[in-house]
Amino acid sequence: MADPVFLISGASSGIGAATARQAAEAGYRLVLAARSTDRLRELASELGGEERAVAVPCDVTDWDQQQVMVGTALERFGQLDVAFANAGFGATRGFLEESPEQWRSMVLTNVYGVALTIRATLQALKDARGHLLLTGSVAGRRALPGSLYSATKWAVTAMGESARQELHGTGVRVTLIEPGVVDTAFFSNQPTDALGADDIARVVMFAVSQPEHVDVNEVLVRPTAQRG
Ligand SMILES: NC(=O)c1ccc[n+]([C@@H]2O[C@H](COP(=O)([O-])OP(=O)(O)OC[C@H]3O[C@@H](n4cnc5c(N)ncnc54)[C@H](OP(=O)(O)O)[C@@H]3O)[C@@H](O)[C@H]2O)c1
Repeated sequence: MADPVFLISGASSGIGAATARQAAEAGYRLVLAARSTDRLRELASELGGEERAVAVPCDVTDWDQQQVMVGTALERFGQLDVAFANAGFGATRGFLEESPEQWRSMVLTNVYGVALTIRATLQALKDARGHLLLTGSVAGRRALPGSLYSATKWAVTAMGESARQELHGTGVRVTLIEPGVVDTAFFSNQPTDALGADDIARVVMFAVSQPEHVDVNEVLVRPTAQRG
């Protein structure tokens, strides 16, 4: 049997890149998507080059690019076993902060982009009886003060559960990954006492390595030092 194929959006840094490395180590072939083409190409080459990893430039807010991403995965590797909709970013808290344009971009990326990744990968995941994972957040489980970002992650929480219900009976598993504070480029100032991206990648690999009858529905992981 050919090695399984793992697609990651937001693979150019942080949680996505750490997951790509651990998935490669576990024997997956990789489809790496984000907007930073150079970073993706470097990572693809680090993870074994053409035979093992393909870099696909993709802005997740663009439906055509999402279709090309999945088309490339199927053309290159012939199957799609895991799709990790992980691309996203935050914003300064406060409803008078940032700009309306920044909000639009964040909502389109964190909500619409995740929905488009689900839409683009759904048939291939059904064909493979595969696994869909979404990166939510602890901020998608409780409201943070003045945080539109938190609202986008509540939407991701809802999408995880609604996708799971829609996919019931298809063999496709759905997992919502809900990190607390992780030390990545997500923050402009480096957080203290945070998780590392590798800590979240290990949780992703735990979910995808369960036997077929086990669907880890959601995992909330905070640093031991994080109170709320
Ligand atoms: N760090 C935390 O504390 C934390 C906690 C909870 C949840 N999360 C979530 O974890 C996910 C990954 O974030 P991270 O912490 O790993 O931060 P990160 O290092 O900044 O990674 C974010 C990734 O998303 C990609 N991305 C952003 N906008 C995109 C777009 N329009 N199209 C395609 N890719 C896009 C970025 O790549 P390009 O810029 O190259 O496109 C990058 O690869 C996000 O959904 C974030 O909300 C993070």
